[in-house]
Amino acid sequence: MRVAVVGAGILGTRHARFWAQQPSADLVAVVDLDLGRAEQLASTWSTTNSCSVASYADIDQMLRDAHPDAVSIATPDNAHRDPCLAALAMGAHVLVEKPLATSTADARAIVEAGASAGRVVMVNHSMRWIPRHREVHAATTETGEVGSVVVAHSVKSDVVSVPASMLRWAGQSSPAWFLTAHDLDLVRWFARDQVTKVWAQGSRKVLKARGVNTWDAIQASVAFRGGAIASFESSWIHPDTYPSLTDDYMHVIGDRGVAYLDRGRESLEVYGPRGSRQPKHATVYEVDGRIHGSFRHALEHFEECVRFGREPETSARRLIGVVSTLESIHRSLENGGTVDVTDPGQ
Ligand SMILES: NC(=O)c1ccc[n+]([C@@H]2O[C@H](COP(=O)([O-])OP(=O)(O)OC[C@H]3O[C@@H](n4cnc5c(N)ncnc54)[C@H](O)[C@@H]3O)[C@@H](O)[C@H]2O)c1
Repeated sequence: MRVAVVGAGILGTRHARFWAQQPSADLVAVVDLDLGRAEQLASTWSTTNSCSVASYADIDQMLRDAHPDAVSIATPDNAHRDPCLAALAMGAHVLVEKPLATSTADARAIVEAGASAGRVVMVNHSMRWIPRHREVHAATTETGEVGSVVVAHSVKSDVVSVPASMLRWAGQSSPAWFLTAHDLDLVRWFARDQVTKVWAQGSRKVLKARGVNTWDAIQASVAFRGGAIASFESSWIHPDTYPSLTDDYMHVIGDRGVAYLDRGRESLEVYGPRGSRQPKHATVYEVDGRIHGSFRHALEHFEECVRFGREPETSARRLIGVVSTLESIHRSLENGGTVDVTDPGQ
């Protein structure tokens, strides 16, 4: 499979690494609006693999020249639609980073373009492939250990340097688009249900004072069609002294049992002369120079779906409800009150 990567930032670099090291695939091109970034990433793998990886600033030019079978898209949250539509128009399969889009209109446009092109469009909700999340999914059935979901509570926080310096586009996103997107997908998957309404409140102070025009923290209350309820808290202002980029946990209470997910501490804590750190390994870890973990499982799932013509577990079609729920959460934040959600389900 010939694959191109669009967006040569933090995640695009990881996508490129996976495809360049995957024996069944070839990384053929890298695109970034910043050509220097694209060139740097392309040259890393051209040199390492003794092959030619082309670099472009223009996705249309790349699609015309390189004709990739698939495109891995890792552009900022609010810039997913145009590269998805461009790739699908040229007949390439698409793997796009979460969140699928930052509006329901964009999400629907991507799903419709995928359907008319007859191509696979998968959203990289790689957290679904973390083994403990699969375990909770298996336990949240009618007869499972946890049973049907009654209430879930999720908290996800990033250190302040993530929005203040890592993501230059944080002002066009929010902690909910960036962080809750993951947990909303997980709880909707555990509950096997559709969201019907949301109510949210938020706070803006710390990031605004640092020139980043977005929410510091968001709390959203979500109701499902079958009666389950869930709350999602996301924040972007943890101090940079916190020993990892993200802190997060989730409780899932069912009608037969309870599952507690402490994802903040994955058991390893290292205390050195300059401070402490808690490295995370569930999504990505390295063995002998290659990456493993749920990120790898998710991209291999995409590759398999393309090869065998299957619909991915996290296809764009199945993820429209996550985008429409997050859009309604932001509407509630801006206007107050409860907002109805149109979630077409999974
Ligand atoms: N799956 C996960 O666990 C996970 C984790 C972190 C980030 N993400 C997602 O990955 C995406 C990228 O995040 P990041 O941290 O790599 O951001 P980043 O800012 O490091 O990289 C984005 C890159 O895209 C480029 N770009 C912007 N618009 C473009 C366009 N139209 N065409 C081509 N290139 C363009 C920018 O120049 C930049 O190099 C986001 O949607 C983010 O939410 C996913």
